[in-house]
Amino acid sequence: MRIDEMRKDYEHSSLERSDLSSDPFDMFMSWWKDAVAQGHPEPNMMSLSTATPEGKPSSRMVLLKGIEDHGFVFYTSYLSRKARDIALNPHASMLFFWFITERQVRIEGTVSKVSEEAATAYFQSRPRGSQIGAWVSHQSHPIASRQELEHKKQEIEKRFEGHEVLPKPEFWGGYILKPTWFEFWQGRPNRLHDRFTYTRNGRKWVIERLQP
Ligand SMILES: Cc1cc2nc3c(=O)[nH]c(=O)nc-3n(C[C@H](O)[C@H](O)[C@H](O)COP(=O)(O)O)c2cc1C
Repeated sequence: MRIDEMRKDYEHSSLERSDLSSDPFDMFMSWWKDAVAQGHPEPNMMSLSTATPEGKPSSRMVLLKGIEDHGFVFYTSYLSRKARDIALNPHASMLFFWFITERQVRIEGTVSKVSEEAATAYFQSRPRGSQIGAWVSHQSHPIASRQELEHKKQEIEKRFEGHEVLPKPEFWGGYILKPTWFEFWQGRPNRLHDRFTYTRNGRKWVIERLQP
């Protein structure tokens, strides 16, 4: 099929002002539960966008690992490109698209590191193979070959032989994005989608409907 002939009408549901929670976190949880109940595969997948201080953006998928303390948590390597961006520019955005419910959620805010204790607790709850993988990879840095990566893996396996649980590498951890803005988008027929934004104003959230 030609790319320009691909189109799908969104007919799953609608979003009215009266459907909205006053707190966007409650709204997110309500849509999250719907995505899970409808069997969306890996609903915690999202696109995370960061930018350099000069405003050069980059996006990649990451997994949401928690919502706590009014923030969205993900884990990664502090050696990665995203970590380099965040160190110099804390502004970032997250994008969830749950095609099963025809819903998109955009979240913007500022990012900071989670505590070392929280990162260690999460790191050590992961399967041992993932713990080894985190030690092996200097994420986003070039490497000459797959072979070299496998060789590094063998070295790490030897180093931690007999350790059921590995210590967390210093260069690995988590971030929490504290939102200042949300958009909830519900697909509708004829591209006349429903969109509502929540903008933080002090301790309050201001809700507006946007044109599709
Ligand atoms: C579905 C999916 C989930 C992913 N989850 C994570 C994650 O939680 N943390 C992570 O560091 N990378 C994750 N990745 C890999 C990232 O997309 C990316 O390749 C990596 O983090 C390096 O990005 P960077 O060079 O921009 O920092 C995931 C990739 C996919 C496709």
